[in-house]
Amino acid sequence: MARHKVAWLPGDGIGPEVLEAARMVLDASGFLSEYLAGDIGWRFWLKEGNPLPERTIELLRNTDCAFFGAVTSKPPTDAMRELPPRLRGKGIRYSSAIIRIRQQFELFTCLRPCKAFAGNPGNYRDGIDIAIFRENTEGMYSGAEWDRVPPEFYTVRGMERVAKGAAISLRAITRTASNRIAGAAFDYARKRGRGRVTAVHKANVLRTTDGLFLDEVRRVAGEYGEIGLDEMHIDNACLQLLRDPLQFDIILTTNLFGDILSDLCAGLVGGLGFAPSANIGRDYALFEPAHGSAPDIAGRDIANPVAAILSAAMMVDWLGEEGRAKRIEAAVAEVIGEGKVRTPDMGGKDGTSEMGRAVASKLGR
Ligand code: NAI
Ligand code: MG
Repeated sequence: MARHKVAWLPGDGIGPEVLEAARMVLDASGFLSEYLAGDIGWRFWLKEGNPLPERTIELLRNTDCAFFGAVTSKPPTDAMRELPPRLRGKGIRYSSAIIRIRQQFELFTCLRPCKAFAGNPGNYRDGIDIAIFRENTEGMYSGAEWDRVPPEFYTVRGMERVAKGAAISLRAITRTASNRIAGAAFDYARKRGRGRVTAVHKANVLRTTDGLFLDEVRRVAGEYGEIGLDEMHIDNACLQLLRDPLQFDIILTTNLFGDILSDLCAGLVGGLGFAPSANIGRDYALFEPAHGSAPDIAGRDIANPVAAILSAAMMVDWLGEEGRAKRIEAAVAEVIGEGKVRTPDMGGKDGTSEMGRAVASKLGR
C-alpha cells in the first residue's frame, strides 16, 4: 500500500533519464509511494506558452512533496523566438518553472550536500563533506526585473546614480527570509552534530542587503552557542574552497552566491553528477539533482544518476524514513567504493540505467 504521495516531474533533457534510475533505487529500497506524473518544462512552453501549467501547481498542492528532474530555460530573446506564432502577441513571457515553484510554495531552504564518496576518481580531496544552505526565495533571484528603469524610480534618492537606459534586476533581502534560512542551517548543524557554520556574504560592498543578512545570521547563531560561526566574503570563499575545502562544514548564504558555490562545491566532489538538492519549506518540499537538463548529453543514457539518487534519499529522509534514506546513501557509497560501475563523468563507460541498477542491486530485497 502506498504510504506517500509524490509529484513526479521528470522535465527536460536528462531529467527523465536520471529520474528513471532514481525510481529503480526507490523501488529496490522498499519505499512505498504513489507517484503522480506532472507536466513541466520547455516542451510546455512550446506547446502552451507556460512551462509550469496550472494543473501541475494543483498536483503539487495535492501531494506530500515533489521529485523533479530538470528543465531547460533559455534567455528571453531565444524563448520568444521559439514560441509558436499562435501564442505570440498575447503578453506571454517566459519565467523559470523551478523558480516559480520555490517562490510560490515558499521553499525557502535550498540544501545542497556535497560529499566526497571514498573511491570517487573525481574527488578534489578526500573527506570533503560540505552542506550548503542557500536562501531560495529572494535575493538576486527575486524575479523583479525591468528592461529599462521605470521613470518613477528616479525620484528615489540614490537612483540618479543609475544610468538612463539601464536594465535592472532587484536584489531584495528581508529579515524574515534571512532569519529562517539561518535557522534551518543551525538546526541542521545541531541535529547532525556538525560544528561550524560559515556565513558567506559581501557585506563590505552590498552593505545594506548583506549587512542585514549578516545581522540576522548573528542573531540566530546566538541561540546555538555550541555551534561556531565564521563569516567570509564570497570571493575569498571561492579561493578558500579550492585551497582547503576541509575547513568548511556548513555554508550559509544568499540565493545567487549559493547557486554559484553549490556548483563549485559539486566540482570538488566529482561534478554535478554527485550533487543532490532539496528545496524545503514549512510543509512542502521539492527534491532535485542540482544539475540542469544537460542538453549536451541528453538522450544517450550517459548522464550520472547519482545526484538524482541522492536527492531521492533526501526525500525519503524528509518523509520520515531516515533508516531507508541512510541505506540508499550507503548503497551509493558501496557502488562508488567498489569502482566496478562508472559513468563517463567518472572516466567509465557505464550508462545511466546501469548505474541505477548497480545501486538498486545493493538494496535488493
Ligand atoms: P547543466 O547542469 O545542465 O550542465 C552543465 C554541465 O554538466 C554539462 O556539461 C553537462 O553535460 C554536465 N552534467 C550535468 N549533469 C550531469 C550528470 N548528471 N552527469 C554527467 N554530466 C552532467 O547546466 P547548463 O549547461 O548550464 O544548463 C543546461 C540547461 O539546464 C539550461 O537550459 C539551464 O537553464 C537548465 N538548468 C536547469 C536547472 C534546473 O532545472 N534546476 C538548473 C541548472 C540549469
Ligand atoms: Mg545552479
